[in-house]
Amino acid sequence: MQNAPSSAVPDQPDWLVDEPYSDVPVGTLRSGKEAQIDVIERVGDDGRRCLLAVKRYIPRKVNTKGQLEASGFERASAFRHDVEYREGRQFRKSRDRRAVELMSSYGKRLLQDRWTGHEFEITERLWRAGACVPYPVSYDDDLYVLEYVGDRDQAAPQLAQARLQGQALVAAAEQIVDGLHAMTRCGVAHGDLSAYNLLWWDDRIWFIDFPQAVDLAANPQGINYLHRDVLNICGWLQRRGHAIDAEALFAELLASGFS
Ligand SMILES: Nc1ncnc2c1ncn2[C@@H]1O[C@H](COP(=O)(O)OP(=O)(O)O)[C@@H](O)[C@H]1O
Ligand SMILES: [Mg+2]
Repeated sequence: MQNAPSSAVPDQPDWLVDEPYSDVPVGTLRSGKEAQIDVIERVGDDGRRCLLAVKRYIPRKVNTKGQLEASGFERASAFRHDVEYREGRQFRKSRDRRAVELMSSYGKRLLQDRWTGHEFEITERLWRAGACVPYPVSYDDDLYVLEYVGDRDQAAPQLAQARLQGQALVAAAEQIVDGLHAMTRCGVAHGDLSAYNLLWWDDRIWFIDFPQAVDLAANPQGINYLHRDVLNICGWLQRRGHAIDAEALFAELLASGFS
């Protein structure tokens, strides 16, 4: 597979090491069904260093035309459907759309590039708008490099593991609501928001894991995704003892997203 063009956000934060640098592996943080997260240390020639997370997408099971056909037409068309949702119908050029549908090698590359590039682009959009998301450093082929949240001793816990109570839980809930407002103002629906895709570090909530995020207005599922996200996270907070009126929040978010 050819590499996607490497891309980097121009206004890089000052903790980031300038080129030339070398990357030293630190260890694997998590290995899930969809992605593996490794931590690396980037060491600059001037001796500066920073920790980064590297997200490696595990290739999808169904990724060749042969495999698609072997698994039956229905699955193949469901997969193409899924592509449209996930990519927010962004393959606007009919040549690109056809290539993806036919699963030509160009199409596969395009899909893979969109898949990594999509998370990068969404996170960049949110970072620029001031949302608390890890800084997106670069993407290339099936790798996405981003700010690591944590320190040398431990990675930031997922909200689900952070055992927050009392004032900390109230603060987290407020930040989740603020973060949702920031996302909808940017026109983005996360699409998989849960206490596993929120990190808690330095008294801050960090939003992560955006490959399935969609454009709120352009994607026909955008509003449904937002609704599901709000119900999910409010349900989780409620079970922890912090009640939020999910439908009222959803209505406020819609108002701010489309104002
Ligand atoms: N930038 C990061 N800093 C610290 N931990 C991270 C970071 N990105 C991901 N993680 C950890 O890895 C887990 C999996 O990453 P995620 O992006 O949610 O991928 P997926 O859920 O698709 O496997 C997260 O829940 C979190 O615990
Ligand atoms: Mg996740």
